[in-house]
Amino acid sequence: MLHMDNIIPDHLQTLDIDHPVWERFFMVAPLVLVGTREPDGGFDLAPKHMAMPMSWQNHYGFVCAPHHRTYQNLRREGGFTVSFPSPKQIVLTSLAADARAEDGSKPALQALPTFPSKTVDGILVKNAYLYLECELHRIIDDLGDNSLIIGRIVAAHVDRDAMRSAERDDQDLIHHAPLLAYLYPGRFATIEESFSFPFPSGFTR
Ligand SMILES: Cc1cc2nc3c(=O)[nH]c(=O)nc-3n(C[C@H](O)[C@H](O)[C@H](O)COP(=O)(O)O)c2cc1C
Repeated sequence: MLHMDNIIPDHLQTLDIDHPVWERFFMVAPLVLVGTREPDGGFDLAPKHMAMPMSWQNHYGFVCAPHHRTYQNLRREGGFTVSFPSPKQIVLTSLAADARAEDGSKPALQALPTFPSKTVDGILVKNAYLYLECELHRIIDDLGDNSLIIGRIVAAHVDRDAMRSAERDDQDLIHHAPLLAYLYPGRFATIEESFSFPFPSGFTR
């Protein structure tokens, strides 16, 4: 039987849900750079932390504001790329959120070294450890001021130093190829120490 107290414990502060709750605590999130093709044939990159797999069958999604160029580009072009930066690339990652100039360009992007993606018409950020190329699968609008973008992965590339294999210890891999975590709202962490998850015995997905 589930053990249940009948009051909310004293140490808990109930938050005012007339406002977004996200500024009141820290939460662990990824931090990726989404790439899209601009109408003039150039490419855009923008950081996203509300991003994660959307299925076990190679769907990947992220939350995006419809007024962002990223949203308009991917809706028009039908695809996007995702580069997963390493902790060493935190400043470059942030630069991708820099303001646009009066002519609509984002000059800070010139600081980000890139190379072309293979299957989707797009770009990938050099020295990231993982890349996804996605065709647009579905857009779910009207989540407040935001939309959920879901892509189907049509190509994926991983740095061999960050690739899991039967011969390699997972903890050793993460130690030598640390992961970047975004701690909304406004901190980041480098993950280089990790532990085996204590699954219940006989656990299956
Ligand atoms: C660390 C960080 C995380 C962000 N996460 C998101 C996100 O998850 N969703 C979103 O819509 N915008 C997010 N943004 C904001 C946009 O990506 C950013 O304003 C960008 O410049 C929009 O560019 P675009 O108009 O070229 O798409 C984030 C910005 C930063 C700095």
